[in-house]
Amino acid sequence: MTTRETDDQQQPKTTREKIAQLRRARLHLQRGGGRERITRQHESGKLTARERIDLLIEKETFQELFLFARHRATAFGMAGKDLPGEGVVTGCGTVAGRQVFVAAQDFTVAGGSVGETQADKICQTMDLALKCGAPFVTFNDSGGARIQEGIDALSGYGRIFYRNVLLSGVVPQIAIIAGPCAGGAAYSPALMDFIIMVRGTSEMFITGPEVLKQVTGEVVTSTELGGPDAQMSSGVAHFVAESDADAVHICQQLLNFLPANNLEDPPEQGDGAIHFYDDPALNSAIPDDPRAPYDVKPIIERLVDNGELLEIHKTFAPNAIIGLARINGSTVGVVANQPAVMAGVLNIDASDKIAGFVRFCNAFNIPLLTLIDVPGFLPGVDQERGGIIRHGAKMLFAYGASTVPKVSLILRKAYGGAYLAMCGKDLGADRVAAWPTCEIAVMGPEGAVSIVFRDEIKKASNPAEARAEFASRYRAEFASPYTGAGRNLIDDIIEPSETRRYLSLAFASLRTKRELRPQKKHGLVPM
Ligand code: HXC
Repeated sequence: MTTRETDDQQQPKTTREKIAQLRRARLHLQRGGGRERITRQHESGKLTARERIDLLIEKETFQELFLFARHRATAFGMAGKDLPGEGVVTGCGTVAGRQVFVAAQDFTVAGGSVGETQADKICQTMDLALKCGAPFVTFNDSGGARIQEGIDALSGYGRIFYRNVLLSGVVPQIAIIAGPCAGGAAYSPALMDFIIMVRGTSEMFITGPEVLKQVTGEVVTSTELGGPDAQMSSGVAHFVAESDADAVHICQQLLNFLPANNLEDPPEQGDGAIHFYDDPALNSAIPDDPRAPYDVKPIIERLVDNGELLEIHKTFAPNAIIGLARINGSTVGVVANQPAVMAGVLNIDASDKIAGFVRFCNAFNIPLLTLIDVPGFLPGVDQERGGIIRHGAKMLFAYGASTVPKVSLILRKAYGGAYLAMCGKDLGADRVAAWPTCEIAVMGPEGAVSIVFRDEIKKASNPAEARAEFASRYRAEFASPYTGAGRNLIDDIIEPSETRRYLSLAFASLRTKRELRPQKKHGLVPM
């Protein structure tokens, strides 16, 4: 259909005719780009914007906004061009009974391209989300700036970015990338809190393969460049979904963990009662050999409600784990070193991953549980040249600046600056417990004795044996939880089996925590 229904040649006169006209116009606009393009959308493995919203928002609660929006472009054949809904469906409705605002780009209408009016629909929806203190969710499926609208389209993106910043830290923002999202357009999701990409249909990049080939000579497919796996390992995406429906499910799971805004606490589940139970299996969770790797994930799963951890950034810096879970029905942000990958060492990517998550949790009143088993920051020329000092400082800053309840549990190694960066007592942890396997030290015993007893080891008839002997003495003297507990750096040394009880009581005791900081515009987080 090329003419607009509300531009009927024959203007309706009676109320009945006007209502009939309204119904026709609505139906026409709700059909988006029409049957053929919808079929094409389905054939490419994608749902339409309305189908996506139907999956996200509870039935009957969706209230559409700005259905009748019209562009006013005239250049390049745009005069009077019928673009139903302007290539985006916007509105609000409930998810698990809580209000959410949504904008879903409609690829069947001009490829979901963003013109002045589409941008205005999105901006006004964001403004409402901000004023109402409700999360904002987008489905991104668009060819980018509407080429025919030139700088009006560019300016539209600018206004969206500006609002992404205004909303940041006030309401949760979640982007589901469900189609192309390229060029500058990728910066709106990048300014949001979570990016969920759909395998097989979504792509994100700044410079597409064709341009790259011309400019740098590099040849790469668009999936290799910007597909979900590529953007997961770059740290841009937080989740990969297998389909649109799976992406919506992940988004709903996320929303269920989060408060609607920064002035609320996260929603509680259950009756709030503390469930005490011992878990003897945890007593054998850590290998006897302090250098043996183990997977920390099963330990996390034993500590949280129903063993459910919504892991974030799974394949980005897998030497650290971050995710959302519940303890006695209350949301906690979990941060852990992963000794199964690179011995759980902290590197540039792990520092960025943890720092960003800690700041997110702090902004949205989510208490932090930190599980420590860290041999240090990763040594290496690449790391130094890449600025590991600057990146590691982000973690120190993020933990130091956060005022939510912070409980740290030292499972095993807690060495050097990496221990402090993982929220030791001195970086502001409210409670610190340690398992008897804990070793806090300025550095690992082997490294320490090689420096302190260098001469003795060199002179010994069997240097390797001498180093091992000195290391064992060092470990017994310094790297024991009793030394840390003696200095009040550890509140308690607990049996692993009692950990769930310890954490339950610790978080319950911190529910009313209030920590005031000096007034300032904002701190200068290392960037
Ligand atoms: C206007 C667009 C459009 C755009 C797609 N369409 N992108 N119209 N502006 N940016 C239209 C197409 O003309 C077509 O219209 C319909 O959408 C579907 O597009 P197809 O090409 O048929 O679909 P497909 O083959 O699936 O390819 C999708 C695509 C491709 C890969 C996204 O359309 C594409 O490369 N588009 C241009 C991308 C681009 O260069 N965008 C501008 C980037 S600059 P008809 O009527 O034929 O169905 C930018 C700057 C932002 O975004 C800066 C912000 C800071």
